[in-house]
Amino acid sequence: MEIQKRISRKIFIRWTTRLIFGITLWIWYRVSNFQTDQEKKLEFVHGQDIPMGMSYYGKYYLFRTENSIRAFSTTCTHAGCRIGKGIGDTLQCSCHGSQFEGMSGKPLKGPALKPLQELECRHNEKSGQWIITFHSARI
Ligand code: FES
Repeated sequence: MEIQKRISRKIFIRWTTRLIFGITLWIWYRVSNFQTDQEKKLEFVHGQDIPMGMSYYGKYYLFRTENSIRAFSTTCTHAGCRIGKGIGDTLQCSCHGSQFEGMSGKPLKGPALKPLQELECRHNEKSGQWIITFHSARI
């Protein structure tokens, strides 16, 4: 005995409509996330007068040595508090007391376990300016 199920036109249309709706929703989600990432890209420009050692600029700080300049976010990797100015070459989060090494952004004392986010820092040879770029959605 052979059991043969036939799909009615009504069921076929219902499932096709759901599939098209799902694909449309997925495409919309992907496109809207792309736009959000683009909108959250921030750039900051500095001249050549960046001081040696650590200099603090609110959302980020710069660490300059003889040979390089590195930029790091001041958003704490523990729970997202803004880290205030450091003492010497160390940064301390006022929320729960994590400490970070200024030169590398590595945690020296918990509860934070991850290093601070390093930012893109590039030098424009023509203008002599340094450009700091946030690419993250979480600024
Ligand atoms: S948010 Fe910085 S130590 Fe908790």
